[in-house]
Amino acid sequence: MNLIVKKDFKTLKGEINIPADKSVSHRAVIFSSLANGKSVIKNFSNGQDPQSSLKICKALGTDIEQNGTILTVKSNGVLKAPKNQLDCGNSGTTIRLMAGILAGQNFDSVLTGDESLSKRPMKRIIEPLKLMGANIESDNYNAPLKITKNKLHGIDYYSPIASAQVKSCILLAGLYAEGETTFKEIYTSRNHTEIMLKNMDANINIKNGIITIQKSELKPLKIDICGDISSAAYFIVAALIIPKSNIILKNVGINPTRAGILEVVKQMNGNIEILNQREVCGELVADIRIEYSPDMTGTTIQGEIIPALIDEIPVISLLATQCNGQTIIKDASDLKNKESDRIQTTVNELKKLGAEIEQTPDGMIINGKTNLSGDTEVNSYKDHRLAMTLYVAGLICKKEISIKDFEWVNISFPEFLNLFGTLFYN
Ligand code: S3P
Repeated sequence: MNLIVKKDFKTLKGEINIPADKSVSHRAVIFSSLANGKSVIKNFSNGQDPQSSLKICKALGTDIEQNGTILTVKSNGVLKAPKNQLDCGNSGTTIRLMAGILAGQNFDSVLTGDESLSKRPMKRIIEPLKLMGANIESDNYNAPLKITKNKLHGIDYYSPIASAQVKSCILLAGLYAEGETTFKEIYTSRNHTEIMLKNMDANINIKNGIITIQKSELKPLKIDICGDISSAAYFIVAALIIPKSNIILKNVGINPTRAGILEVVKQMNGNIEILNQREVCGELVADIRIEYSPDMTGTTIQGEIIPALIDEIPVISLLATQCNGQTIIKDASDLKNKESDRIQTTVNELKKLGAEIEQTPDGMIINGKTNLSGDTEVNSYKDHRLAMTLYVAGLICKKEISIKDFEWVNISFPEFLNLFGTLFYN
C-alpha cells in the first residue's frame, strides 16, 4: 500500500501514551513460557514481531490467554516439541532468542522467517551456540535454522559486536547448559534480558560488564511493559522540526542502554525535558516533553552510544537534515544487517527528498539545514523504521510524498498513524 503524506495541519500539540516496548514484549512472553507458574503481562505490544514470539510460545505448548493487551501465561517451565516449523515472520529478536532456547531442549525444531529475515546473518548466534555443543544446520548461516537436540555446556564468550539479540541468545542457552556461561561484549547493548531474568530469580550475575549465568528455575513474571523509546523517537523528531510544536509523550522507557537518542538531542541543542522519572519493573520510565527547536546543531555520533540508538539512526539522520552544520554517524556498520540495509536505504530515500546526505562504510554524513522538497515516491523497502522515518520527513516536505509499502509499520507500531492524528493541531 502506498501512503500519501502531506502536511495539512499547523503544528503538533497534546499528550499521548506511547505503546508497549517491542524488545521488552518479546522477552516478557518468551521468558514467562520458561517459568513455572502463572505470569501476568500488562501492556503487551500489538506489533507483528512480538505477536510472532507469542505464537511460537503457544506452538511450544505454553497456555496463553490474550485479553486486549493483557496476557496471562501459564506454564510448568517445560516446553513441548512443536508439531510444525516455527515461523518467526520478520522478527530478528524472535529467531535469535528462540534459537538459544531451542538449542538446549530435548526435541528437534526448525525456525523459519520471511524473505527479509531469511537474508539476515545468523552466524553471530550459530557459532557461539555450536561452541556450547548445539547442533544447528543452515544454508550459508541463514534461516531456516534446523536445530537437532543436543546437550549444551557453558562457555566463556566475548562478542565482538554489541548485539542484545546475540547476548540474549547465549544467556538463554546458558539457562539450559551444564556449568557456567559467561558473556562480555564490545559495548553494552540493551539490557532488558538481564533485568527481566534477575526479576525472575535466575542465577545471573553482572560484574564489570561480564555476565554470568547458570541453569535456573524461573519464577513467574508480573510486568507492566513501558512505552517504546524507539516508537517515541518519531514523535520526538517530528516535534523538534515542526514549527510551534509542543507535545508530551507519556510512559516511555528511558533505560540508558536504549535511550541514546535523548542524549543526542540534548547534544544537538534540542528542547527536550524528562519529567516524572520512575522505575517500573526494573526499567527506568519517564514522560518526555518536546518543543520545536529551530536552532539545533550537527554533532558526531559514534562508539559506545551507537547500540543505545541503533534503531533510531534513520530518524536521527532525518533530524540532522534540519540541524545547522554537519552530523557524522560512525561505527554503525551493523545497520546493514537490519530489516533493510539501513545505511543505504536511509541515504537513498532522504536524498530523493533533497537531503544532503552521503553514505560512508560505517555510517553517514549529513549536512544541514536543507529544505526537503517532496513531490516524489519514496520506498520503505518493507522496513518499518524506514516507513516511519519517511512519514515524518513527509510532514516537513514542501509538497506531498508517496511512501511505498507503508503497511510494514505494523511490524512494530500499528497505532502509529492514529496517534499522529491525535496531535495534529490547526
Ligand atoms: C533488539 C536488538 C537490536 C535491535 C532490534 C531489537 C532486541 O538488534 O536492532 O530491533 O530486542 O534485542 P541487535 O541485537 O542485532 O543489535
